[in-house]
Formats: sequence, C-alpha cells, structure tokens
Amino acid sequence: MKILLLGKNGQVGWELQRSLAPLGEIVALDQGEPGDLCADFTRPDALAETVRRVAPQVIVNAAAYTAVDKAEAEPELARTINALAPAVLAEAADKLGAWLVHYSTDYVFDGSGEQPRVETAPTGPLSVYGRTKLAGEHAVARSAKHLIFRTSWVYAARGANFAKTMLRLAAERDELRVIDDQIGAPTGAELLADVTAHAIRTVKSQPELAGLYHLAASGETSWHAYACFVIEQACRAGRPLRLATDRIEAIPTAEYPTLAQRPLNSRLDTSRLQRTFGLCLPDWRVGVKRLLDEWLVR
Ligand SMILES: NC(=O)c1ccc[n+]([C@@H]2O[C@H](COP(=O)([O-])OP(=O)(O)OC[C@H]3O[C@@H](n4cnc5c(N)ncnc54)[C@H](OP(=O)(O)O)[C@@H]3O)[C@@H](O)[C@H]2O)c1
Repeated sequence: MKILLLGKNGQVGWELQRSLAPLGEIVALDQGEPGDLCADFTRPDALAETVRRVAPQVIVNAAAYTAVDKAEAEPELARTINALAPAVLAEAADKLGAWLVHYSTDYVFDGSGEQPRVETAPTGPLSVYGRTKLAGEHAVARSAKHLIFRTSWVYAARGANFAKTMLRLAAERDELRVIDDQIGAPTGAELLADVTAHAIRTVKSQPELAGLYHLAASGETSWHAYACFVIEQACRAGRPLRLATDRIEAIPTAEYPTLAQRPLNSRLDTSRLQRTFGLCLPDWRVGVKRLLDEWLVR
C-alpha cells in the first residue's frame, strides 16, 4: 500500500509517521518540504499535482490551520487550508480511486447542552476555525472513499500542549485560574494515529465502512480538572512545584475572553467508531498519565 501523508510534522502527523509505517510505503510531506513535491496547502493546484505524481492508494491529511484565535483575523487563509485544499485532495483522490483520511473537530458544533454529540447531530460552528473545518468536512465527504475523524482537545509529546504549560506555570506561580465550564476529552495524537492505522486496514477490505466518525478518548473533564490532574501527578512524582491544586481557581469562560468563541460542550459520542471498528477507546487519563510518566521521570 502506498500512503501519502500530509502535515507530517504536526502533533498528529508526527505520530502517523510511526503508526502508518507498517502498512506500506509512506511518502510523508510538510509545507516546507525540500525537493519538488509541493505540500503547501495555500497552493491547491501544486498540491493536486503532488497527489497525481505520488499516485497513492491512501491520502492521510493531518495538515490544517489550527490557530483558533488567529483564524478570526485570517479567515481566507484558514478557509484555503482547511476547506479549499481538502476539496482539491478529495477531487484528486477520486481521480485515483484512492482513500482520503481527514481530521475534523468538535468546534463544528455550537457547544450547547450537556450530552455527548453523535455524528448526525446538527452542526453550528462558533468560530472561523470551526466554520472552515466544517466546510472541509463537507468537501471530503463528497469523495467516494473517505474517512473523517472528528476529535477534541488534542495533545502530543511533541510541541507545546496544555499539560506542559500547566507544569511550567506550576513551577513559576503559586496561584492559577483555569476554566471549568468547557467540558471535553483530552485525546492523544498517539491514540488518533493508532486508530487511523487500524481503520485504514479495515476499510481496505470493507469499503462500505467509509464515513464520518467521532474519535476521542473516553470520559470527560474540564480544563480545570485536567490541570489539577496534571499537577497531582507531578506532585506524586516528586516534582518541586510552587503551585498546589487547591490554589488552582476554577473560573467560567466568561472570565477568560478569547478572540474565537469555544464550545462549552465538547463531548463527542464515539460509540459508532467503537462498534464499527471493534475498538475500545481508553479513558483520557490513561494517555495523559502515560505522557506525564515519560516527562516526569526525566
Ligand atoms: N489540536 C487540537 O486540539 C485539535 C482538536 C480537534 C481537531 N484537530 C484537528 O486534528 C488535525 C491535526 O491537528 P494537530 O493538532 O496535529 O495540528 P498541528 O499540530 O497544528 O499540525 C498542523 C500541521 O499542518 C501544517 N500546516 C499548517 N499550514 C499549512 C500549509 N499552508 N500547508 C501545509 N501544511 C500546513 C503544519 O505545518 P507547520 O508545522 O509547518 O506549521 C502542521 O504540520 C487537524 O485537522 C485539526 O484541525 C485538532
């Protein structure tokens, strides 16, 4: 199997380089790729040419414009990367008869209510990022053989992330204010990449399983409880910290204004994915604890 992986150095892209490797030949690209294969999503025509030249059986798109607040000031750039380029990929995939795997977000929803949302629930994005990701989903869904995974609160060992920020702040400060009315499930890039590899293998022999799936770790938390969990683990590991969990103040979103509005309810119902692919998605604490165990022993 020949796989074209786009966005290879992002949180998810990096883990996909590992998880897809046993499936076949991987051509992994990022926007600044040296050489003559262009993987810059702001150049959709050149991107289509790259797909034609690589001629993969599977395209995995981990590239995206993910700067949620910045997108409010750069809607056209966000739309080009998150919607127009995926539309070009969908067309190019269809011409080759290839599979297209794509990632989307809980930000396509308006975040109302307290129940986990299923794939068919009405969308209603609150931000430029959410609207452009939804347009990207629609474009990819028009391709014959697609898998779209909507996920939430992604973290990875590589790059910046919420847990790392909390550990840094806990060493510097003795008080912290963290939002407690946004609820979701922190989901590891490792988990996303492993499930993607499993799903690709499955749909190759069962193409009728193409479609949109919610993919996130099980359980739920708030950013505040997530921060407390990180600090508790660090204390147990004997990290010297200035901050104790009882000095982490829980605040509502209204007290932490951002340029882009975030959904309060980021819960995703993942039963369709678990049932269809015979998987059991672990609780969010499993992946976060594993990540912390690796950092905290250093
Ligand atoms: N992060 C989250 O919390 C979250 C939540 C829900 C869904 N998702 C979705 O999950 C997927 C993976 O996200 P992630 O967290 O891995 O994102 P990420 O770490 O921000 O990685 C995004 C990747 O896209 C690349 N990229 C940006 N602009 C590009 C361009 N013009 N042309 C080509 N590549 C470009 C980046 O390249 P550079 O490194 O060179 O900039 C990077 O490799 C995305 O579809 C995202 O929307 C993410």
